[in-house]
Amino acid sequence: NTKAKEQIEKEFKELKLSLPKAAWFENSAMVLYKSFWCPQYFLKGAITFQNYFEAQDGDIILASLPRTGTTWLKSLLYTIINRDNFSSQFSQHPFHTKNPHDLVLYLEGLDLSTIIVGNQPLPRLFATHLPYLSLSDSIKTSQCRIVYVCRNPLDTFVSLWHFYLQFERNKDIHPNMELMEEYIGKYCKGESPFGPYEDHLLGYWEESNRNPQKVLFLEYEGLKKEPKAHLKSLADFVGCPFSEEEEKQNVIDEIIKLCSLKSLKEMEVNKNGNFSPMVENKTFFRKGEVGDWTTHFTPSMAKQFHQMLRKLNKAGFSFT
Ligand code: A3P
Repeated sequence: NTKAKEQIEKEFKELKLSLPKAAWFENSAMVLYKSFWCPQYFLKGAITFQNYFEAQDGDIILASLPRTGTTWLKSLLYTIINRDNFSSQFSQHPFHTKNPHDLVLYLEGLDLSTIIVGNQPLPRLFATHLPYLSLSDSIKTSQCRIVYVCRNPLDTFVSLWHFYLQFERNKDIHPNMELMEEYIGKYCKGESPFGPYEDHLLGYWEESNRNPQKVLFLEYEGLKKEPKAHLKSLADFVGCPFSEEEEKQNVIDEIIKLCSLKSLKEMEVNKNGNFSPMVENKTFFRKGEVGDWTTHFTPSMAKQFHQMLRKLNKAGFSFT
């Protein structure tokens, strides 16, 4: 263990110095690590995860880019998998006292001792923002399953923009149209946390086509439109299908209600609690609207996404 720790530390120090860097808001430098832009504060965690995480056959891994619906999917998956432990009305559900990110941890956020022990009830549920190609080998070779969620890149950008601007450390930045246009340029060039956006999405998309038993691919917009049908396929995919009895008792609707943006946003823990010293729980819940970008972008801003959208359209996505 001590040797492994020293090895991680050494690799981290070397990579931090040698990898190409890009700025992302104040104090949020990213390094180009194994062909994705890794926020520097996740680099050590990413190295640890890749080298030491041993996936088990029953594991469920939620994969996503930031601001594409991770919090929502964490809540849904956690509730679907653990639903037998709570009364049907969910009045005692852990979401009343804990943020979904405290219950479903990021693999790249774990340290060595936690990642090795993995002391979680079964099936274990984790999340990651790493691209498919950068996942630890055992995830690919074991029978564990991956749920991926994507979102319209324009809405994802707007959400990301608001997310970073609300941090205290970014308070000296004066957001204006020029700065937004500059950041859209970076984003469309691929320089965004865990980006390039389209490589991330297409990596999981291609794997879900090759192996649909392994990767369930979801769209935020589809989930908003038809939550019930999506919850059923999600529950089937993770091996916890809803029984007829549960359907009659409206369990699916109860889960949708509990995990809705409105419900989670109003929980005391999400109004006033903190995820970490720097991040308040409320930062995970904003508007959750489809097409929010139309209220933010000028035509020239939207035009910057043209190439990215063309590539995605070619793959069959109809984001507009
Ligand atoms: P907006 O900023 O557009 O409102 P992530 O969890 O991946 O960081 O994504 C955050 C986005 O998902 C935010 O979008 C947030 O408001 C939205 N969101 C958070 N919880 C949600 C929920 N329970 N249902 C729907 N959207 C949710």
